[in-house]
Amino acid sequence: MMTTTFSNPKVATHALRCVHCGAVQAVADRMFRCTQCSELLEVVYPEWAGASREFALRLREIWKERKGSSLAENSSGVWRFRELLPQVDRQNIVTMSEGNTPLLRLEKSARALRLPHLLAKHQGMNPTGSFKDTGISVAISMAKVEGFSWVCCASTGNTSASVAAYAAHAGMKSFVLLPAGQVASGKLAQALEFGAHVLQLRTDFDGCLKILHQIVQRFPAYTLNSLNPYRLEGQKTVVFELMEQLDWNVPDHVIVPGGNLANSSALGKGFLELRDLGLIRVLPKISIIQAAGANPLVRTMRENDGQELVRVNAQTRATAIRIGNPASWRKAVAVLKITGGACEDVSEEEIALAKAELGAEGVGCEPASAATLAGLKKLARSGFVQPGETVVLVLTGHMLKDVDYMLEAQKQHVLSPMEADMGTVIKTLEQIDAGN
Ligand code: F0G
Repeated sequence: MMTTTFSNPKVATHALRCVHCGAVQAVADRMFRCTQCSELLEVVYPEWAGASREFALRLREIWKERKGSSLAENSSGVWRFRELLPQVDRQNIVTMSEGNTPLLRLEKSARALRLPHLLAKHQGMNPTGSFKDTGISVAISMAKVEGFSWVCCASTGNTSASVAAYAAHAGMKSFVLLPAGQVASGKLAQALEFGAHVLQLRTDFDGCLKILHQIVQRFPAYTLNSLNPYRLEGQKTVVFELMEQLDWNVPDHVIVPGGNLANSSALGKGFLELRDLGLIRVLPKISIIQAAGANPLVRTMRENDGQELVRVNAQTRATAIRIGNPASWRKAVAVLKITGGACEDVSEEEIALAKAELGAEGVGCEPASAATLAGLKKLARSGFVQPGETVVLVLTGHMLKDVDYMLEAQKQHVLSPMEADMGTVIKTLEQIDAGN
């Protein structure tokens, strides 16, 4: 077993446990699969069972104190919570102050939906503009611990941007497999700018991931896709940060978009760990929203109550979540069942409308993130979300990731070029004013 510094001088260990058959193992193979049944693994910390509530409450104080510190591992919104992460020596921690993202009030949507307590946790405000940075920071640190010089991923775009940046920052080499022609240009540009070797394959994301499995058996690169359980350890820290921002009042609902289904799984893990440590008493309902054209989890829940994955041929303009064969589906099903969350899909039009509505209150995000608001509207209509309940939408990516989408959506608002004289401009403004 590997060790985790639980609290000085107390040390806890972490192990890898299969999410399906429960087998526990100390080390993982290149694709992080269970040696017994080939399902995914999760990181567990067996010694937490013995942690006292006093100790857990002390953690809250320690985390707060670190906020004022200038040490890199304290100013990171991930490593600030390192007692609940695998232990990594300081020299191996790869961080760019990820996390530390704002929790925004959505006033207009709150009024429209009669949900006064509607908030957005904006994970697009991470260093490379998506929530991926929190997970990549932990997983790439593990790659460093293990002595890898190459890291890699298959991606719909954001993971590749994050992998490229963190690898560059750590002085490591990276290659990324992308579905050719299906990645938003902002993300592709980031991966290139950060110096990743970008391989665009004539397939979809699911095809890229399948090939990556084969490649890493032959090529010595460390996989940073979310089947790497250390990714989820980083991503779960958003829950700790959110709970601090909410003064440890658990929201009724947390709503997240679902693609490969790791983020929803990580959020569930974060809340469960806080509950097990006695830092919260109840869990929020964690609901997962997919695009109607890329809805394998929705179909899996509807058609067989989460027993067997229903794969789909994915199509959506929310390219981040264009995934038909999600790796972490079992973990996500468990989160839905344990928290009592809902799983819904939303149309392309609903996503576009929700994105424009968020934009109209000054909150930008990428299309996949806007699926959360579109999903909330559905859940409020059905009565699953009740008036007066507190709802947190997890906005996963920055609006500038997919500028083409916005220019297309907003094209009717683009005025033709006009003469550069004051009279013409004033006249135009007066017309606009009269129309309002
Ligand atoms: N939102 C954004 C902006 C994403 O980039 C992703 C996934 C998701 C939501 C879904 O999260 O996969 O954990 O369910 N993007 C991955 C990538 C697949 O390669 O960047 P998930």
